[in-house]
Amino acid sequence: MKHETYKNVTIMDHPLIIHKISKMRDVATSSKEFREYVNEIATLMGYEVTRDLPLMDAKIQTPLEVADVKIIGGKKLAVVPILRAGLGMVDGMLSLMPNVRVGHIGLYRDHETLQSVEYYCKLPEDIEKRDVIVVDPMLATGVSSKAAIDFIKARGVKNIKFVCIVAAPEGIKAICEAHPDVEVYCGTVDRELNEHGYILPGLGDAGDRIFGTK
Ligand code: URA
Repeated sequence: MKHETYKNVTIMDHPLIIHKISKMRDVATSSKEFREYVNEIATLMGYEVTRDLPLMDAKIQTPLEVADVKIIGGKKLAVVPILRAGLGMVDGMLSLMPNVRVGHIGLYRDHETLQSVEYYCKLPEDIEKRDVIVVDPMLATGVSSKAAIDFIKARGVKNIKFVCIVAAPEGIKAICEAHPDVEVYCGTVDRELNEHGYILPGLGDAGDRIFGTK
């Protein structure tokens, strides 16, 4: 369904996605289970995110005759996870789109200033010829996602989608105001951010929970 204020924001309403997000929140969910949920949700969201991929006409030889068929056309894609939690969503996306290229952007959030600091960036060489799907499980302040999208746009990319699992209203506002042309897909939208920039009720630090670092 569409966000009531920002029409470029789609919020998932599939029961499987809603159920899996609820399980992810549980403090008793292990790292292994958490990773599996992230992966499964990324696949389910990938299905929604690719709904508008253009199709083109083609011919296929069946065992009986030549069939007029449709296949995916249009620009090639790249998936760009924001390190490190975004990595958890890559395999889920690749399970639907095995031939897409993967770029990486490393940004960490300074917990004092809440500003994002870039420490790594490696994108496909022909990134400007691709449509890009940026993934990060958590859209909190929106600072990192905004910075990542700024960076990708500066490399000449025209069509960007942003996919997160849990979003804060503050992050949605920030990203929509900075990048109204970007389609945003959220698994769910939570209540608010706390004073440390964590989403409430949220699920804690997604990177720590994926990689078991805490
Ligand atoms: N990043 C996370 O991993 N969790 C939050 O709640 C906010 C940002």
